[in-house]
Amino acid sequence: MATELDEAARIVLTRARRPPRVGVVLGSGLGGFAHGMGERAVVPYRDIPGFPAPGVAGHSGELVLGVVRGVSVACLSGRVHLYEGHPPHKVVFGVRLLAALGCGIVLVTNAAGGIRAGLRPGGLLLLRDHVNFTGTNALLGPNESPFPRFPDMSAAYDLRCRELAHETARAEGLELDEGVYAGVLGPSYETPAEIRMLGMLGADAVGMSTVLEVVALRHRGVRVGAVSVITNMAAGLSSAPLDHADVQATGAASRDRLERLLSGWIERLAPEVAPG
Ligand code: HPA
Repeated sequence: MATELDEAARIVLTRARRPPRVGVVLGSGLGGFAHGMGERAVVPYRDIPGFPAPGVAGHSGELVLGVVRGVSVACLSGRVHLYEGHPPHKVVFGVRLLAALGCGIVLVTNAAGGIRAGLRPGGLLLLRDHVNFTGTNALLGPNESPFPRFPDMSAAYDLRCRELAHETARAEGLELDEGVYAGVLGPSYETPAEIRMLGMLGADAVGMSTVLEVVALRHRGVRVGAVSVITNMAAGLSSAPLDHADVQATGAASRDRLERLLSGWIERLAPEVAPG
């Protein structure tokens, strides 16, 4: 894994004007941000050895390097999910690559169903913590030295990053809730009974990504911020059946607000990362 990642990072860095300092993972329907960056270099995943191919419609599958408000950024546009049948170590290949490229902070975005009362489709939810219900873990198998066998997850979603997200939201006039994300395997949406269970267990929102990526990033000491776009009320909380097309449409309608949050957030994170 280490040599495959080193080779992938070497290839990407030959195409980068400067090494990225902040990474961004763009979820379903949220790919527009990457193409708004300045000084762009686009590396399709298929050009990166070891990178698995994402299969979901609306995921383009490219690593986009660029500059946001003076900060050099690498965006994973399109992600790989467990439910496509990829093993956990492939699901986190992209975020490990962000770490290998030099990103000290990674901002993860996703689409999620809202569980907590008061969350509404189109809203933004900053993650404070997660519950991993996928039944697996990114770190299965032999541990990769020098990273810890048993990484601490007690402050997985970086406090300073969260403060700066709230500061950005206030400055931009954006509403930003905060809560706990339940990561599930999918690909079927949950039943109403499962949503009641997840709510009782402390989850505010539910989605099919993010938790393995966050584990893999914390394993490498990368600081993490994460935000969900609430694309729907979770199963049983509204009369409408869940439909992927609706989820994508709500994600797209929230794109502008998410992009404003990300840009201002990255600008405020500049003092937290190495000069790039
Ligand atoms: N459940 C799981 N994943 C999701 C949902 C949901 O309701 N909405 C968007 N991703």
